[in-house]
Amino acid sequence: MRRSSRIGEIGSESIGDASVRLFDKASRLMVKGVNSPIRYFEPYPFFVKHARGCKVYDVDGSPYIDYCMGYGALLLGHAFKGVIDAVRAQLARGSLYCIPSEHEVELAELLNTCIPCAEAVRLVNTGMEATYHAIRIARAYTRRRKIVRFDGCYHGSHDYTLARNNMDRDARVDNAILDCVADNTLVLPYNDPDALKDLMQREGNDVAAVIVEPVMANAGLIPPDPGYLATLSSICREYGSLLIFDEVVTGFRLALGGAQEYYGIKPDLATFAKAMANGFVIACIAGRRDVMSVLAPEGRLYQGSTFAGNPVSVTASIATIRYLIRHRSLYKIIAERCSRLADAVKDILHDRGLEAIVHNIASMLQVFFTDKDVRDYATAKRSDTGLFKLYFKALLKQGVFIPPSQFEVCFLSLAHSDAVIRDTVERMDRAIRELGELSKG
Ligand SMILES: Cc1ncc(COP(=O)(O)O)c(C=O)c1O
Repeated sequence: MRRSSRIGEIGSESIGDASVRLFDKASRLMVKGVNSPIRYFEPYPFFVKHARGCKVYDVDGSPYIDYCMGYGALLLGHAFKGVIDAVRAQLARGSLYCIPSEHEVELAELLNTCIPCAEAVRLVNTGMEATYHAIRIARAYTRRRKIVRFDGCYHGSHDYTLARNNMDRDARVDNAILDCVADNTLVLPYNDPDALKDLMQREGNDVAAVIVEPVMANAGLIPPDPGYLATLSSICREYGSLLIFDEVVTGFRLALGGAQEYYGIKPDLATFAKAMANGFVIACIAGRRDVMSVLAPEGRLYQGSTFAGNPVSVTASIATIRYLIRHRSLYKIIAERCSRLADAVKDILHDRGLEAIVHNIASMLQVFFTDKDVRDYATAKRSDTGLFKLYFKALLKQGVFIPPSQFEVCFLSLAHSDAVIRDTVERMDRAIRELGELSKG
């Protein structure tokens, strides 16, 4: 296989000619050749032919050990047999009814059993839809306008949370957002309960909801300080604001019942997507019965979707959740593998003289190239993102694919066996050796 030499500093031989040709064509037809910004990386991404287990294979036939895993969706691995078989059987029974079906009830019951706050649920299609409507529900229930969110958290590309994307940059112009929307989106630093207390003293009576990623997974990986989520919950209760956990990443991944089970904190509303159906398109809003009742047709808040509760995604979700229930021990197994990988990366980075810290929790990990603590977006941004780019490329050259940004997270799946972890560590050792030599100049 001939490899292109256009990738730059490291990894000049990483990406094959078939990907280059596809990227050239894709760039003429699609914006920068991709359908979501994060999929682009310099100078161009490889193009996937197929995927199985923990590996993706590109159009040039090169395999990569995947630590992106659909940005967290594929907890059981690519093309997981139990889920694919269930979906295949469903396809023969129809792909869209738009009439209630027995499977939707079965899924709702599973969600109710697994997720602590899920007294009532509404199925939607994407994480973005779920957080958008959760915020609308909170506004309708409380009859208040303001939303508090945290710097560096991501809740999908909709106006309600993109308006103030991060504290140092008001994104209303970039994102074409109306001032009245942006003015009702308040942004605070994560892991800083006093900042929320101060704000609520001033504006608490206007705050409909506080929305948070219980574990930040969009600024690198940043876990909550001990007691932080409990404090958020009690401040919200004091002011009559709703607490929304955005569990699009943590749901079914941190634990069967998500971060709310893991940390023992029950929010008023929560959103789920990604790992809920192991790679099929489905999401849900779950929450208190009285709050969810504002939704039409019981209440007056209109929310609807043609594809919500479609039988293909519902079947995939049932198969995924039933498997997770039957094999609960997999959470511990994957977490142990993840911590072994995190420890090994720490040691390798240290041995090669690179200043870095590594965060890991459950099946997620991320490296920050800094010697300082990372506990919010401001501190995450102090990391050497240039070095991270080289780290990404060095890994790619060794056949390990991680999300291409410092501000994303690596995900393990059940398919990342002990042997795969050992293989990854060897590849990381080679990649980091190259990085160490490069950073010495
Ligand atoms: C925490 C969080 N919430 C919401 C979303 C949006 O989900 P989707 O891409 O399915 O719209 C994402 C996407 O990565 C996310 O990480």
